[in-house]
Amino acid sequence: MKSTAELAAEQAAFWNGPGGQGWLASIERIERGIGDFGTAALVAANARPGEKVIDVGCGTGGTTWALAQAVGSTGHVLGVDISGELIAAARTHRIPNATFELGNAATYPFAAASCDLVFSRFGVMFFGDPVAAFRNFQQALKPTGRLLFVCWRKPAENPWGLVPLRAAAPFLPPLPRPGPEDPGQFAFGDRARVERILKESGFCALSFTPLDQPVFMGQTIADILENTGRFGPLARAFAEATAEQIEKAKAAIAEALKPHATAEGVRLPGACWLVGAQASSGASAG
Ligand SMILES: C[S@@+](CC[C@H](N)C(=O)[O-])C[C@H]1O[C@@H](n2cnc3c(N)ncnc32)[C@H](O)[C@@H]1O
Repeated sequence: MKSTAELAAEQAAFWNGPGGQGWLASIERIERGIGDFGTAALVAANARPGEKVIDVGCGTGGTTWALAQAVGSTGHVLGVDISGELIAAARTHRIPNATFELGNAATYPFAAASCDLVFSRFGVMFFGDPVAAFRNFQQALKPTGRLLFVCWRKPAENPWGLVPLRAAAPFLPPLPRPGPEDPGQFAFGDRARVERILKESGFCALSFTPLDQPVFMGQTIADILENTGRFGPLARAFAEATAEQIEKAKAAIAEALKPHATAEGVRLPGACWLVGAQASSGASAG
């Protein structure tokens, strides 16, 4: 079993290597794919003028920009990401009331009790020690502060991830089976685990709102195949596969996606949680 430090180092290497490069290269398609989930999360987060916000795992800063608009010139958003490449891209937005910092959000020295909202769009599933990370966010929040993030539910509820994986698996080396506590794209699929992490890190008044909607995977199957294997379980499998195995796996994915191809692109069902919590039990709902 890997230590939490090893798991964290693996994630840092991934997001500073193929993960960050792949995210940047596919950002337009990704925005079309997860933009609606992010919009729902931003609505639920309800950032207000004058608030101080942290955007965890902010990537190229799309949600940081939206949060900065919401808090206005009297508020501020701090976007933190572990990927040098993505933070560099985020800084090009030059948002006057936002700052982007390169760092591990799990251990970043946020000023204590300084912020109103900790937000994340799919950026909190990658910590080696999630309880320590969420403790860090909890202590950064004012007692009246709140947490709101969106994360994927289990793979079985997310055909956009499962259909390609099932189609490709017979042609690839045995897929690594992540342990129940390992970080990764679907690491927060188990609601009971997320509840445990948040409670152990000091959050209260937890809420889990299911959000089910189609995920745009690409305009054409060829577009999707170009990006296949960049993230999630297939990235690990492709890293160990031969070129011939990858070719066969991609052909199988193309077959499996054919029934879902339309003139408006390829969409498959997706399922997320909008997870909310309060920093302290005395706080009213945000
Ligand atoms: C799935 S991407 C989401 C990016 C962004 N929130 C968005 O929605 O476009 C996950 C992000 O989390 C970042 N990340 C992973 N582990 C992190 C950590 N320990 N601290 C800060 N950022 C992290 C990655 O670099 C990546 O940008």
